[in-house]
Amino acid sequence: MRILLVYFSRTGNTQKVANLIFERLRIEKIECEVFKIEPIFDLPYLLWLFLSFVPSLPFPVKSLKFLKLEKFDIVILGTPKWTFNCPPVTSFIYKLKKFSRSLNTGKSLPKIFLFLTYGGFREEVYLKKLVRKIEDFGFEIVAFEKFKRSEIQNNDFLGKLDRFCNLILSSINPSDFDIAEP
Ligand SMILES: Cc1cc2nc3c(=O)[nH]c(=O)nc-3n(C[C@H](O)[C@H](O)[C@H](O)COP(=O)(O)O)c2cc1C
Repeated sequence: MRILLVYFSRTGNTQKVANLIFERLRIEKIECEVFKIEPIFDLPYLLWLFLSFVPSLPFPVKSLKFLKLEKFDIVILGTPKWTFNCPPVTSFIYKLKKFSRSLNTGKSLPKIFLFLTYGGFREEVYLKKLVRKIEDFGFEIVAFEKFKRSEIQNNDFLGKLDRFCNLILSSINPSDFDIAEP
């Protein structure tokens, strides 16, 4: 199983979750490639905020064209919730779309695990829309989870994160991981 962990993080919350997922995979001796989504340049908060009101607007990302999605069986995607749209992440979503359209019949798409970090406003609708969008491109989203900024900063999310990691691990080695009910 080849695994890609891809995330965007401007203020560190999504990165903290991504790092812990990476660490858990490492402990289980599972190799994982990491791609940090980095815009070609950063903008001040107010400009990002402005762009985040434009649905489906992409923003150019460093080295994205060199990322070879065909190498992976599993993609773990982490994104913050930004108003209606997080433009750097949208660039990656467009890459997923292009990849699925270009794939020859018979070849399977990587399975997706998705996590969202958020401050506390309308995250449920945002996550559902994102799930639907990625599924519409033909990908299977095996599991998704959301983590609130305050929980991340107080380390109150570790149980939820553990369950999310177990779902990833059970899709790699189905017999080795018990999925406990929350
Ligand atoms: C431009 C912008 C828009 C945001 N919009 C929302 C929002 O609509 N709802 C919400 O719950 N949090 C919102 N947030 C807060 C982030 O989702 C939250 O702080 C997240 O954990 C940031 O992740 P990061 O630290 O990895 O960048 C917004 C943050 C930014 C920068």
